Amino acid sequence: MLIVSAKVFLLLILCVAASKVIAVPHLHRRIIGGFDVPDSAAPWAARLVFTSGTGSSLCAGTFISQRHIITAAHCVIGPSAVYPVQNTTVGYGSSELTKQTKVMPVKITPHPYFGSQSNININDIAVVEIPNAHNVQPAAIYMGTVGVHESVLAVGWGATTGTNDPRSAPSRLRGAYLKVGQECRRVDPVMDGSRICTLNKYTVGRATCKGDSGGGLFVLANSTVLLLAGLDSQGGRIGDPTCGTADGYSLFTRIKSHMKFIGQATGIVF
Ligand SMILES: *[C@@H]1O[C@H](CO)[C@@H](O)[C@H](O)[C@H]1NC(C)=O
Ligand SMILES: *[C@@H]1O[C@H](CO)[C@@H](O)[C@H](O)[C@H]1NC(C)=O
Repeated sequence: MLIVSAKVFLLLILCVAASKVIAVPHLHRRIIGGFDVPDSAAPWAARLVFTSGTGSSLCAGTFISQRHIITAAHCVIGPSAVYPVQNTTVGYGSSELTKQTKVMPVKITPHPYFGSQSNININDIAVVEIPNAHNVQPAAIYMGTVGVHESVLAVGWGATTGTNDPRSAPSRLRGAYLKVGQECRRVDPVMDGSRICTLNKYTVGRATCKGDSGGGLFVLANSTVLLLAGLDSQGGRIGDPTCGTADGYSLFTRIKSHMKFIGQATGIVF
């Protein structure tokens, strides 16, 4: 397999920065080599846990309204179908896990044409709706162009142990700055413009496995405002899904390519 979806990672992941080898049977992609994100910097962050009969999986998401969270389609689709809302827990209101409000969603809507082409996730985006949230500040969607070599911030809560117990995840949101690549055809042969690619070689030690699946990718506008440009979809390395190597990459679903879906799933006109 040329490129392995984050969904099917069932292997040891080498964390270059942390010099740790971590097994992640059910946890989606993790932040490595990043930094703690304070509450004030991430009032839009959501943490998503999905439970199945055999375990649970962890993802991140971003509020785009007081009720709507954008995440990855591959997060919300379980082994056989979309996770029922009863199997889903949304945490929000703080970067710190223990201070979060936890709720059950009212509706989960993956992109109707989520799929895979040449091992690349296509339309990997979903909307999770919850009852009206407090203590959140929705992120604005970035409608501009994300330039080659631009710095972008990926965030997520990621497990730091090999168990699939969500309680083993770090207690605080983590973030890492990545850099948009030029030669993305190598890692994204579909090249339809609906993904943003970052290459580890620019930011060695913190370029792949950055951010849980579904976690937001942000551009910094005017040195002050973080705007939502993407969400963590998949990554690894050519021919090998090892994380954090200098020749690795990450692919992020480009949010602005999916405004029609977001409008239909939320009823919000952006
Ligand atoms: C939802 O959770 C129940 C109870 O844990 C479990 O039996 C069921 O398989 C889960 N559904 C899915 C789709 O994972
Ligand atoms: C950045 O600053 C310019 C000029 O002051 C302003 O027009 C623009 O709205 C700002 N962008 C954001 C995202 O705040």
